[in-house]
Amino acid sequence: QRKLIILTDPGQDQAAAILMILGQPQAFEVLGLVATAGNINLDHTINNCLKLMELAGRPDIPVFAGCPHPIVRPLVMAEHVHGPTGLDGPDLPQPKIRLQEKHGVDFIIDTVRAHPGEITICSLSPITNLAVALRKAPDIAEKIAEVVAMLGAYFEVGNITSTAEFNCYVDPEAADIVLKAGIKTTMLPLDVTHQMRSTPARLQAMRALGNKCGIATAEMLEFSEAFDLKKYGWEGAPLHGPCVPAFMMAPEMFSGRQINVSVELNGTLTAGMTVADWWQITDRPKNVFYVKDGDPAAYYDLLIRSLGNLP
Ligand code: BDR
Repeated sequence: QRKLIILTDPGQDQAAAILMILGQPQAFEVLGLVATAGNINLDHTINNCLKLMELAGRPDIPVFAGCPHPIVRPLVMAEHVHGPTGLDGPDLPQPKIRLQEKHGVDFIIDTVRAHPGEITICSLSPITNLAVALRKAPDIAEKIAEVVAMLGAYFEVGNITSTAEFNCYVDPEAADIVLKAGIKTTMLPLDVTHQMRSTPARLQAMRALGNKCGIATAEMLEFSEAFDLKKYGWEGAPLHGPCVPAFMMAPEMFSGRQINVSVELNGTLTAGMTVADWWQITDRPKNVFYVKDGDPAAYYDLLIRSLGNLP
C-alpha cells in the first residue's frame, strides 16, 4: 500500500483519478489532498476536493488549501474546458466537510518528514505546492519516495499553447524546481494521455455501474469532453488524470524511457514546454521516467473496476 499526497485542481479528469485511487484501498492510503490553483481558482478547487470526498463517502481524508497563485506568473485557468466551477457536469451537493486549517505546503513538509522514504506525491495539477515545499524545506527532497505527475508533452506538443501542456504552462518555474530536485520522478505527459480516449462505450460502461460515483464520473467526463471532441475531432476525449494512478498500480500497461526533461522558462513561443531528450542527444542528467505509450483498453478496464468499488 502506497502512502499518497494528492496535488490537484479538479477538474473532471482529476476527479476520475481521485475516485480511481479511492476505489483501490488495498493499493493506496491517501493521507490528504492539497487543492491547487489551476483549472479554476483556489476557492473552487478547494470546494471541488471537498465535494469529491463527500461523493466518495470519505470525510476522513483531509483537504488542505495550497497556494492561490503560481510561483511567479499570474494564474491561467481552463474554465473553457471544465466550466465555471471547474467541475461542471453532475449536480454535486455543497459539501459539509470542512477544509483543514494547516496550509497545504506545511502539510506536505510535515507529512514527508513524519514518513521519510514512504510518501509518493501524486501530482495531477500544476506542481506549485510541492515546489514551494521544496523551497521552504529542502530536506524533504531526499525523504520523498517518488513523484508521479501528469505533466508535460513532447511528441503531442501542447494543449494550452502550441508547445506547452496546461499543468506545466501554468507554473513552469514550479515544474523546473521539482524536476531539478533529484527526486525519483515519473511523468505522464499528453503523449500517453491522448491515447486514453473516453469513447461513448467506455462512458456507458461507467454509467452502467449504476453507483453514485460511476454515474457522476460519466456525467463529469461527458461535460469536459465536449471541448476536446470539437478540438481534436476524435471519437473520445483524452483522459489525463487517471494515467497517474493507473501507472502506479499497473506500470506494465505503459512504456517509456529514463531521460532528461527540462522546462523552457523563457521562450516567447515555447514557455512551459517540457523539452524531452528522447534520443539522449545531450549529457543532461536523466531525471525523469518519461511515459510515452499506454494500453487504453487495460486502462479503462482498471478505471471502471475501481469506480465500481465505490458508493
Ligand atoms: C491537464 O490540464 C488540466 O486542464 C487537466 O485537468 C489536466 O490536469 C491536462 O493538460
